[in-house]
This record gives sequence, structure tokens and C-alpha cells, in this order.
Amino acid sequence: MNKELYRQAVKMTERSYAPFSKFRVGAALLAEDGQIFTGCNVENSSFGGTICAERTAFVKAVSEGVTRFKKIAIASSGGEAWPCGICRQFMREFCDDDFEIITGNDEDSLRVYTMKEILPEGFKL
Ligand code: THU
Repeated sequence: MNKELYRQAVKMTERSYAPFSKFRVGAALLAEDGQIFTGCNVENSSFGGTICAERTAFVKAVSEGVTRFKKIAIASSGGEAWPCGICRQFMREFCDDDFEIITGNDEDSLRVYTMKEILPEGFKL
């Protein structure tokens, strides 16, 4: 499953809109019910309006009524890519400590960390 998710993340880098950074990112998010939601980074001329691939995937899922997740795979034009600080906090809203984040330079060298490992003592109301 990790490899399949990663392959979908790689595929999504093709949809990336990154004319400014040229850094293409794709994500594939597995929900607890088995559905997969994909996303890519979408940049904006007003740079702060940029949304990362991970948050695109989460927003697609949540806006479809899905709020429980198991894991996310991330791929980029630069290879291994870990979520930025904003995405870590954003994911924490919907994910338990054991949610998995998967990335790597290729599908045979994937690295996996848990939510708790990448955001210890994360904030949640
Ligand atoms: N980016 C992501 O989509 N996900 C990450 O995990 C890191 C950064 C995007 C944002 C921006 O479009 C580009 O990569 C360069 O920062």
C-alpha cells in the first residue's frame, strides 16, 4: 500500500502548478474508509496564497465529508519531501499520533514517520 500511495503521489506532481518555485509536489492521502485523495501544490502570484500538496489532499477529503485518515505519501521533483510546519499542524487536526507520513527518493527507498514523530507535542484544542 505504501508503494501504491507513493506512485499516486508521483503521478500528482504532473498536476503541480509551480511556476515560481518550479518545485513540483504531489500527495496521496489514504482515508480510514479506504478512499484515496490526491493533491498537488498550487502556487500563487501572491506567494502567501500558495497551498502545499498535502493540504490540497486534506481539503479535498474534508470537503467531501471524510475526516479520518491512515497515511499520506508525498513525492516531489526534488525527491524526498517532508511536510512543512504549516502542513504538520494542519494534518494534526485530523490525524492521531500513529498516522503515517511516507516519502522517499523512489518507491524502493521509502521512509516512514508517524505524526507524533514529526510533530511532537502538537497543538490541538
Ligand atoms: N511544498 C509542498 O507542496 N509540500 C511540502 O511538503 C513542501 C513545500 C510546496 C510549496 C511550494 O509550492 C513549493 O513546494 C516550494 O516551497
